[in-house]
Amino acid sequence: MKFFIDTANLAQIKEANDLGILDGVTTNPSLMAKEGIFSTEAVNSHYKAICELVNGDVSAEVISTDFEGMVAEGEKLASLHPNIVVKIPMIKEGVKAIKYFHSKGIRTNCTLIFSAGQAILAAKAGATYLSPFIGRIDDMNWDGVDLIGQIAEIYAIQGYETEILAASIRSPLHIVKCAEAGAHVVTCPLSAILGLLKHPLTDLGLAQFLADHAKGKA
Ligand code: E4P
Repeated sequence: MKFFIDTANLAQIKEANDLGILDGVTTNPSLMAKEGIFSTEAVNSHYKAICELVNGDVSAEVISTDFEGMVAEGEKLASLHPNIVVKIPMIKEGVKAIKYFHSKGIRTNCTLIFSAGQAILAAKAGATYLSPFIGRIDDMNWDGVDLIGQIAEIYAIQGYETEILAASIRSPLHIVKCAEAGAHVVTCPLSAILGLLKHPLTDLGLAQFLADHAKGKA
């Protein structure tokens, strides 16, 4: 399973990348806004900075909601760096744009996925990645991880090549559950990635090892 970080914060991207386990980055307009990045020029130069930092796929989201606008914007984004994956929302015009980009060899990430039906449509259109938002589903009192399992089963039965990129991850447990459910990729905040490290028995065990070793110096 690949690990992406879900942020536009360069310091956090660098920290995750320095761990040596990072395979890519996802962003969205809200994450860009959180960093104070709004204009097209600023957004594009930020994507270039991310691509220079990480050797992996970087999802860059279009703002347009019409086919022509998505195509123009997506082609511009894809030209910024070979690792850019154009992120397209699951709407009617988005499905057409994904199909278009697929025919041109431009990779896409179909975002804002909340149902298996949407997942089938995105795969049929040729999306490279599919982003089900599991945390937001949990927030509605449904089970986001169940959706990952359902899509994984459908994709395996149908032989779809689209990779399931579990998004809207909120915790280390989400990461583990997505791995069990068959996600190909998880995109997570840095806190969830670092949370995987933690276990009190590891801390206690290490403290004991170091204390026992120190007895030899007494
Ligand atoms: C995924 O590509 C999205 O950027 C992200 O995972 C959304 O997460 P949120 O629900 O925490 O905003």
